[in-house]
Amino acid sequence: MAELLVSAPAKINLHLEVLGLRPDGFHELAMVMQTLDLADRLSLRPTADGRIALHCNRKDLPTDGSNLIVKAAELLRARVGLPELGVAIELDKRIPIGAGLAGGSSNGAAALVGLNELWGCGFSQRQLLAMAAELGSDMPFCIDGGTQLCFGRGEVLEPVALEQPPALAVLLIKHPQASVSTPWAYGRCREQRGDFYLQNEAEFEQRRALLRGAPLLAALRGEAPLPRLRNDLQAVVEPEVASVREGLALLREAPQALAVAMSGSGPSLFALFADAAAAETARAELAEPLAAAGFEAWVCRCTGSGATLV
Ligand code: C5P
Repeated sequence: MAELLVSAPAKINLHLEVLGLRPDGFHELAMVMQTLDLADRLSLRPTADGRIALHCNRKDLPTDGSNLIVKAAELLRARVGLPELGVAIELDKRIPIGAGLAGGSSNGAAALVGLNELWGCGFSQRQLLAMAAELGSDMPFCIDGGTQLCFGRGEVLEPVALEQPPALAVLLIKHPQASVSTPWAYGRCREQRGDFYLQNEAEFEQRRALLRGAPLLAALRGEAPLPRLRNDLQAVVEPEVASVREGLALLREAPQALAVAMSGSGPSLFALFADAAAAETARAELAEPLAAAGFEAWVCRCTGSGATLV
């Protein structure tokens, strides 16, 4: 095989509820995640020198063993037990870095999917999902993608039954200099809301059941108006991060916006619209204040799959 291309799409959280603390120190979550058509591209070329070499068009992104692509490649190679396998990976980065859009997790997921094919490992989707869960809470979702309920640390997936991806269009914004540490956001959440966390599995399951029947899911099927979105980390981050406050205030001014929220632990923010034309109109109307405040903006569609061979 000469070269393999893999698409690694971004996600947003349409719902992020912190239920409680788990014995492993992570938070028990109930989320709805959605893949977007904003994607990085990995090109994989097999080598026979046993090296895993990563290059990226963004020079500020670490390409050493801390990168989830390299971690994914090393894990896959260890599991298949062939240390002589090598690969040269080119990463074309389009998803903003450190944004709460799962760019890094999606890159790792794409590496698992692509190298499984390139190296002929023959792992099943289930085995890939299990390896993904070892590497990061969001990574299993990034393998399957689409519209899913995500429970546990985020790795327990339940697809939302939809005939097609939600018709909603997304105006996504991110300040290039803003960043939010995910462990910090969860830590602050625990400090501020820990006394109100649910305490046991029965209580967690009650919340999961509520989310399975929530108006949000009917809205994603196009059967009901979009309700207000919930992201418990937004309640923690918005008061403390000026660019998140500023960006949300701008998006709330967007004409025809159906809902506005932060994605993941931030700092990227989004507004939802009935269609791409409405999202483009809002982007045009907000172009000046967004540029003045230094935000980058993208108009995206919802898609139905995660990391995919191109
Ligand atoms: O799994 P991942 O590496 O994405 O998690 C990053 C950090 O976010 C964890 O170290 C933890 O501090 C926090 N986290 C959490 N509960 C989750 C997911 C992440 O507390 N369910």
